[in-house]
Amino acid sequence: MSSDIQRAAEIIRNGGLVAFPTETVYGLGADALNPLAVARIFEAKDRPSFDPLIVHVPGLSEAMKLASAIPEKARRLAAKFWPGPLTLVLPKVPSVPDIVTSGLPSVAIRVPDHPLALEFLWEVACPIAAPSANPFGRVSPTTAQHVRDGLGDRVDLILDGGPCRVGVESTILSFLSDPPVLLRPGGISLEDLQSVIGPVTLDPHAREIPLAPGQLQNHYATQTPLYLGEGSLTGRLGYLGMKMPVDPDSYERIEVLSADGDLREAASHLFAALRRLDAAGLDALVALPVPDEGLGRAINDRLFKASQKP
Ligand code: TXA
Ligand code: MG
Repeated sequence: MSSDIQRAAEIIRNGGLVAFPTETVYGLGADALNPLAVARIFEAKDRPSFDPLIVHVPGLSEAMKLASAIPEKARRLAAKFWPGPLTLVLPKVPSVPDIVTSGLPSVAIRVPDHPLALEFLWEVACPIAAPSANPFGRVSPTTAQHVRDGLGDRVDLILDGGPCRVGVESTILSFLSDPPVLLRPGGISLEDLQSVIGPVTLDPHAREIPLAPGQLQNHYATQTPLYLGEGSLTGRLGYLGMKMPVDPDSYERIEVLSADGDLREAASHLFAALRRLDAAGLDALVALPVPDEGLGRAINDRLFKASQKP
């Protein structure tokens, strides 16, 4: 075991913060059973309100210590997709602090599929609450450098596991009702979930993708305003899409997510491409939605959230 992991475990035991790689994005972790340590996560991220956090564990038996019940369908999904980019929302046991769940009676749990994350989780031997390791409202980090850029010395240690393989956050599925409800599309596709457990209820709010540019307003993810779909924008523009734009000369900077049209590859490049565009000092960014299937749903969801709303 590396000395970094030992240091990370020591920091967690002392109530500190460790950023760690997962297959989706880097997480900003603290001991989930220590409310003061969890409070530091919100402080470091400048999060204005206490959103519920995902709790990371190294395996199903550790997850079972946090949930008061695990329905059969949830077990089947865990067996199939853990470790992996799937988060299950389950009724919680009393020992999970309110600051982790924002006072909800449920807890979101996942087992990340990254060797360094798993080594870290086994070594600390406590559940780790972790949101993405970026300042509130910004683009999620997919490299250790992204974490350094965004959080600097607000985090006690960054475990560097290289670039994240999946590149978009986990799929979140709530088992508080049956059929379960998709709360966030992510690294495990809806089709994959349905193939194991049948019907899944879609959150209607996650689906709408407006194509008209909205008014300039405070944006969510990039500093440069981002618009979904090509409109009548002028100025120095950046482009993000699956393929080359039809009119490449209109753009100062172009980010192609996957020349082969591979949605997995596109997802893995998404956040780094958004960061490059944002750093290029452009007037506006144009993003074209990708096919709304497989990992494309997660990509479109993030693009929608990052975009200017009408
Ligand atoms: O891939 C991921 O999920 C990454 C890595 C670090 O694991 N984490 C992540 O965390 O994306 P964050 O904080 O950016 O998103 C957590 C989401 C929030 O949208 C939150 O509302 C939801 O999980 N969530 C957490 N607990 C919940 C609960 N009990 N009920 C419903 N939603 C919950
Ligand atoms: Mg996040």
